[in-house]
Amino acid sequence: MSRYLIVGGAGYIGSHVVRALVERGDTVVVLDNLSTGHLEAIATSGARFIPGDVCEGNGLDRLFRCQEFDCVMHFAASSLVGESVTKPLDYYANNAGGAIRLLEAMQRNGVDNFVFSSTAAVYGEPSRVPIEESCTPQPTNPYGRSKRFIEQLLGDCAKAYGLRYAALRYFNAGGACPSGEIGEDHSPETHLIPLVLQVALGQRERIDIYGTDWPTPDGTCVRDYVHVCDLADAHLLAADRLAAGGESVVFNLGNERGLSVREVVDLARRVTGREIPVRDAPRRSGDPARLVASSSRIRSALGWSPRFEDPGELIETAWRWHREHPHGY
Ligand code: UFG
Repeated sequence: MSRYLIVGGAGYIGSHVVRALVERGDTVVVLDNLSTGHLEAIATSGARFIPGDVCEGNGLDRLFRCQEFDCVMHFAASSLVGESVTKPLDYYANNAGGAIRLLEAMQRNGVDNFVFSSTAAVYGEPSRVPIEESCTPQPTNPYGRSKRFIEQLLGDCAKAYGLRYAALRYFNAGGACPSGEIGEDHSPETHLIPLVLQVALGQRERIDIYGTDWPTPDGTCVRDYVHVCDLADAHLLAADRLAAGGESVVFNLGNERGLSVREVVDLARRVTGREIPVRDAPRRSGDPARLVASSSRIRSALGWSPRFEDPGELIETAWRWHREHPHGY
């Protein structure tokens, strides 16, 4: 049994990890400022909740002084690519600044193991697909750059202070806990799958397809959708590896399978049995054409493999969540 501090644990991905840790018997403390997270996402999880902001070093010190942790996982971040272009200072302050405060507090208090939420956005427009971790990161927006900055900072802290970390580069997270109790709830919602399901529920008239002239088989963007519970599994495996003395690592987390926007809409039509009207729209600025992971590194290093390889199943779990919680938490 280990003791975890989960920063940003009330958010979409963090709350699924919290649940998985508690279910296997670990002790979990969640620190979250609830700016985008939801108390309801962890209320019945068995984790202890502490309201607070990762950017406030004094609060972090108090927390580390009154409780011991074996590992810290850091999910708290601003994560909208488009918004990062118009508010770069907010993104660097919250993402880079928050990570620095947290790493400082860990160093002062002798906590060495760190699991970090990174992103496929560090790759920018990749020159080769599927993308391997050895592909040179060239982020094309402030969000991706802020995450890449933290990855580099982690490498520096590992050398200087003996920090041990796992940086997990998520591709497109989707789906929800199959129990239907927790799921995705952003405001405003900008992600494809929840928006498509809101159309299926009749909450939106249609889905705009951002660009139909991309260099892809059907002209729409291709992404690698990975189930949030599979992401959670990977966090547990990565933390266990650090606890066992494993060295610092960077892993892609994706299904190794690309789906176009039109394919996502078609699947959602099949799963929901509802009509989902679409409208062709201009490209969204900052979108790469195709992001598909190679996840062979984490498969061979940690034995991770996705339980939800079928994208239809991923959408089914998301549909259950949205149907049962049409207005979110
Ligand atoms: N899309 C539409 N219409 C919409 C919304 C999205 O066509 O109304 C398209 C987008 O253009 C994109 C695809 O659907 O091609 C997926 O878009 P999302 O907004 O769901 O996800 P992104 O790929 O933009 O970004 C997500 C995370 C980022 C992360 C990135 C890494 O939000 O944090 O995956 O792949 F960096």
